[in-house]
Amino acid sequence: MKLNIQQETAQDFNAVFELNKLAFGQENEPKLVELLRKSSAFIPELSLVAWFQNQIVGHILFTKIKIVNNENDTESLALAPMAVLPEFQQKGIGGQLVNSGIEEAKELGYKSIIVLGHEHYYPKFGFEPAEKWNIKSPYDVPANVFMALELTPNGLENTSGLVVYPKEFDTV
Ligand SMILES: CC(C)(COP(=O)(O)OP(=O)(O)OC[C@H]1O[C@@H](n2cnc3c(N)ncnc32)[C@H](O)[C@@H]1OP(=O)(O)O)[C@@H](O)C(=O)NCCC(=O)NCCS
Repeated sequence: MKLNIQQETAQDFNAVFELNKLAFGQENEPKLVELLRKSSAFIPELSLVAWFQNQIVGHILFTKIKIVNNENDTESLALAPMAVLPEFQQKGIGGQLVNSGIEEAKELGYKSIIVLGHEHYYPKFGFEPAEKWNIKSPYDVPANVFMALELTPNGLENTSGLVVYPKEFDTV
């Protein structure tokens, strides 16, 4: 599917709200996107929209998080949320958004991405259970759904600890 994946602009905000609402069937996630946009965790280059012809059919957001332990805090990225319009799902759009986000995050110099998501979906992009690095979720979730991806060789070397999400995530 020929998509045009671009950084979201202010003109896209309404379409992004609606598509998140339709994909998730509720307003929690579109509202989360709005809160994150206003937060210090927001990275404009990592709020991406997928255009198909003259319509926005998908959106993905990566925000700044920290992995903290007793010795240091390490900056990383959270992939969340991601949404594709229901009638456009299962066509690879989500995959193209994930890959574009990974490439942009690398260009921006980030070393890793954390995701809480489907254990069969994200491993195709290289994500592995975060427990491999002793990286822990603040949420009580099964180990196999909490995953990490290194963007540089050994990008997570010596990085263990608890992931601290932006406080805006507490609202969903
Ligand atoms: C999760 C979500 C974003 C995925 O988007 P998507 O565009 O459907 O994703 P893809 O098409 O890349 O991949 C979905 C599946 O279709 C398959 N697929 C990929 N390309 C395909 C193609 N050309 N034809 C048919 N199937 C394809 C993938 O292999 C994948 O299979 P899997 O379920 O076995 O992993 C979308 O389903 C969604 O918006 N869901 C509701 C919101 C949500 O739950 N978001 C995630 C939590 S933040």
